[in-house]
Amino acid sequence: MTTAFDPIELAGIPLANRIVMAPMTRNRATEAGVPTPSMVTYYTQRASAGLIVTEATQTEVVGRGYPLTPGLHTAEQVAGWRRVTDSVHAAGGRIFAQLWHGGRIGHPVLLPDGLEPVGPSAVRAAGQGFTQNGPTDFVTPRELTDEEIRATVDGFAAAARNAIEAGFDGVEIHGANGYLVHQFLAPNANLRTDAWGGSDAARARFAIEVVKAVAEAVGAHRTGLRLSPGNPFNDIAEPEPEATYTALLDAVSPLGLAYLHTCDVHDLQLLARLRKRFDGPFLLNPVTVGRPTGPEELSLVEQGDADLLAYGALFIANPDLPRRLAAGGPFNAPERASFYGGDDHGYLDYPSLDDN
Ligand SMILES: Cc1cc2nc3c(=O)[nH]c(=O)nc-3n(C[C@H](O)[C@H](O)[C@H](O)COP(=O)(O)O)c2cc1C
Repeated sequence: MTTAFDPIELAGIPLANRIVMAPMTRNRATEAGVPTPSMVTYYTQRASAGLIVTEATQTEVVGRGYPLTPGLHTAEQVAGWRRVTDSVHAAGGRIFAQLWHGGRIGHPVLLPDGLEPVGPSAVRAAGQGFTQNGPTDFVTPRELTDEEIRATVDGFAAAARNAIEAGFDGVEIHGANGYLVHQFLAPNANLRTDAWGGSDAARARFAIEVVKAVAEAVGAHRTGLRLSPGNPFNDIAEPEPEATYTALLDAVSPLGLAYLHTCDVHDLQLLARLRKRFDGPFLLNPVTVGRPTGPEELSLVEQGDADLLAYGALFIANPDLPRRLAAGGPFNAPERASFYGGDDHGYLDYPSLDDN
């Protein structure tokens, strides 16, 4: 029987176990989106994960959706990430960069030079985002032109090349949680009637083009994809997501991607059907209402419901999480107040078992 503690070959890379650190924004990069020495320590502390997926990292400046998020579009950012990847590799870990464009989830106050957030259509998300001024109402994004959409796809490919130059083992395309890729997939955020919208297949096109461009740039075996069909986060409404996601998975499955990663999919039957459309390793961040993914979910690998499991909040609070899961605990409790921004408290000071 396969367990979460068994090794797996991914992207031609042997992973020591199937416990993945989920991508988590922590808002501790510099204003210029450069990873800091604290980020080097944070990721290195968690190098016993089979694979680390970094926090969402913008592919271009207009893609920044929150304060102090890192990027992969300048030489300084690449140099900063190189220090992270070298240190994680020296500790025996493996690390993918999550490539992200916030789209309409952003705000002019987060952007330089009078830039405004962009989206598939000029549809404002209901609710508030987070800026340096605290919670702030979303704005109506500027609708991307066809030419700009192609340039945005190229931006994902360029950031993927930068990630490999920075020493990453691969990249994960952030197609989940209501950011730009998800906005194109969703009928309430994408009202276009050109080649990028208007039908299930057309709404899948941007995601397909991004995956193909990234796979061409760095190799399909180094390209993962994260999706959350039906997840309403960031004012997404997808009443009938199956046709769009089927079109997407049918187009990308033959490429031979590193993995498919899903999160926040409450409809488990839909999830099982979509998984069948993808031929490759399946990384699951399971839905666990009211608590983070925990030891209870390890059996999902044993039952064959996932090839790898992603752990979020528990990995924030437990730098040596695989060891603790293998031992049945104990687990430090995550402190929400220090999740998004701040100093090294709640970032670097959670103890390992050896510290206790
Ligand atoms: C502090 C924090 C930041 C997050 N940032 C991201 C992110 O940058 N990209 C992403 O895809 N998901 C992000 N997520 C979602 C997690 O990857 C994960 O799906 C979620 O926490 C549920 O998993 P869990 O129950 O194991 O925590 C974030 C979650 C948390 C708690």
